[in-house]
Amino acid sequence: MTSDRTISVTVWRGEASGEFQRFDVPRQASQTVLDVVVWIQQNADPTLAFRYACRVGMCGSCAMMVNGTPRWTCRTHVQKVISGDKLEIAPLRNLPIIRDLAVDMAPFFEKWQAADGVFAPSKTRNEPIECVEPASDARRAASAGIECINCAVCYAACDVVAGNPAYLGPAALNRAWTLMNDVRDANRDHRLQAVTSDGGCQNCHAQQGCAAFCPNHLNPTAGIVGLKRMALRKRLGFGD
Ligand code: SF4
Ligand code: SF4
Ligand code: FES
Repeated sequence: MTSDRTISVTVWRGEASGEFQRFDVPRQASQTVLDVVVWIQQNADPTLAFRYACRVGMCGSCAMMVNGTPRWTCRTHVQKVISGDKLEIAPLRNLPIIRDLAVDMAPFFEKWQAADGVFAPSKTRNEPIECVEPASDARRAASAGIECINCAVCYAACDVVAGNPAYLGPAALNRAWTLMNDVRDANRDHRLQAVTSDGGCQNCHAQQGCAAFCPNHLNPTAGIVGLKRMALRKRLGFGD
């Protein structure tokens, strides 16, 4: 029974065929959703499985569904997301559940590889370091997407990923976009092919669900639109 001093929290337990379990958790000032999960593990059930590391919004490992919305739980205050007295915490959408609140991130990072999201140097260590002009359009486009912490919040928010598991998704395409704007990178043609393959950027409906939820206020949709534009220019013979 919820009281002024406790919150009624339901937490997903088990694998995909699991169920929600209820806990009464003491209210605290400035309590985060991650604080709630840690309290349950330390005080009610030490077998509760979940993942976190930094607790300060840096590592990207603590994302979960909170009342149906993907969020980084270490920076999400309970008082801002509680619905009435209800706090429902579930594993991230669109990824396989390992157990309880821990999901398997492998499909997420495999998409980064499929999108060729790895820097390919165009210079050897014996050549001078290439200067990147800070005010150039390309540098600014890359900078706008570079602070991704790989939390998969956008991936969980994306309805196209939910309907088409082959879709590369917002984070991998955002990463590809930053590299397509890196003048030092040597793999642009191959990457453009990768991001316009069957699961590529053309699947995005551009409604910005990813941007609405990114905790770092990135806009993967903008990068995806940029990739579509690059692909079209290439097809029409205009280069990038
Ligand atoms: S804008 Fe594109 S990538 Fe972002 S959530 Fe929508 S379909 Fe997914
Ligand atoms: S783009 Fe934003 S929401 Fe998506 S993984 Fe990166 S930081 Fe997380
Ligand atoms: S625990 Fe590192 S971002 Fe939340």
